[in-house]
Amino acid sequence: MDKLLIRGGRALHGTVSISGAKNAALPELCAALLTADTVTLKNVPRLQDVVTMEKLIRNMGVAFTRSDDGIVTLNAAALDKPEAPYELVKTMRASVLALGPLLARFGKATVSLPGGCAIGSRPVDQHIKGLQAMGAIIDVAHGYMNAHLPKGWTRLKGARITTDMVTVTGTENFLMAACLADGVTILENAAQEPEIPDLAEMLIAMGAKISGHGTSRITITGVEKLHGCTHSVVADRIEAGTFLCAVAATGGDVILENARADHLDALLDKLREAGALVTQSPHGLQVTSSGKLKAQSFRTTEYPGFPTDMQAQMMALNVVAAGSSIATETIFENRFMHVNELVRLGANIQIDGRAAMVTGNAKLSGAHVMATDLRASASLVIAGLVAEGETTIERIYHLDRGYDRMEEKLRGIGADIERVK
Ligand code: UD1
Repeated sequence: MDKLLIRGGRALHGTVSISGAKNAALPELCAALLTADTVTLKNVPRLQDVVTMEKLIRNMGVAFTRSDDGIVTLNAAALDKPEAPYELVKTMRASVLALGPLLARFGKATVSLPGGCAIGSRPVDQHIKGLQAMGAIIDVAHGYMNAHLPKGWTRLKGARITTDMVTVTGTENFLMAACLADGVTILENAAQEPEIPDLAEMLIAMGAKISGHGTSRITITGVEKLHGCTHSVVADRIEAGTFLCAVAATGGDVILENARADHLDALLDKLREAGALVTQSPHGLQVTSSGKLKAQSFRTTEYPGFPTDMQAQMMALNVVAAGSSIATETIFENRFMHVNELVRLGANIQIDGRAAMVTGNAKLSGAHVMATDLRASASLVIAGLVAEGETTIERIYHLDRGYDRMEEKLRGIGADIERVK
């Protein structure tokens, strides 16, 4: 298994190109299932979750090509197996995004239940409830969701769907399913993460009728057919946020090409309060930091609040900043697994339920640590970049799931980091 070896203590300088967003690319690959025409996606990031989605989609009988410069073409004209098997779903929960499009276009789908997840129980009850409201019959048996339409129906029916909580992939599943449904669907309590308007724009380019995307109420008027399109995946705000925290913590001056300030308001407020200078330039975001920061308390919430996917990285920054801070996690019930590993590097953190109390000013020293999930891995990389001496991070397959060549990009701005086989 690959490991990362980091010799910390270097400031970061230069330019990094931010890739397309993992969390936009995954639903957008599934959106291609909605049409028999060819769909071209540009700016698709090179990361393991995209490879898993490719396997899942190819397994259904979809023609799939991918070039080195991030262009993917898909053609689902010959799709003959509307199924997502356990072997693939268990490695990536986002596989559940196949359910809505398959059901909408083929009137049936068999998708494995995702099962447990390191950061929380993450059920899919809301996905089921919403699609049932559109008329789907969904039987859960032998670990699978078997979905089909009632006898005599050829399409799902538009409905008003109000989820119990804001769910990102749930909203995306309903959005895709509703495009081919009969009549109007209204999604109340819809997620507003920037990946949702990006998906909606792609669906509109395919002929869908959608309004309100980017707000908590989305209205979709179903059409009979969608056609092909070319769409460019929006920049990854979490990758950008991770580099912002890294540069803020180590000190330095870096331009993040393609990054968008308007997708990162909550994080940028915290970084500026902490003492980093972040400005938007025509090429992206520029961050300048002396590495001497003031700790910032924060609370994760749905977009536009502070993203749960940035909690671990911001905590790594707070560990070395001056003062005490509290990180409160409200989205997932078990998302503090990086804490014990940060403590191994010299952090001073106490967990109390959903809050982690950080006493700052820690002098981190390199150690062996283990990555436990995707964003936890990123927080360990940030801590390793600051720590004195050598840090070895094991199990970086978690990092590879969601970051496009992170160590290459970090080396390009002066980090001493290498991958060891
Ligand atoms: C998406 C993101 C993930 C991010 C998360 C929250 C993708 C591929 N993944 O995950 O990176 O951390 O949003 O911003 O876009 N819930 C239920 N029942 C459901 C659905 C959700 O109880 O049917 C709960 C979850 O357990 C969680 C909360 O709702 O506590 C929010 O989850 P959700 O927004 O659905 O997360 P994902 O879409 O899986």
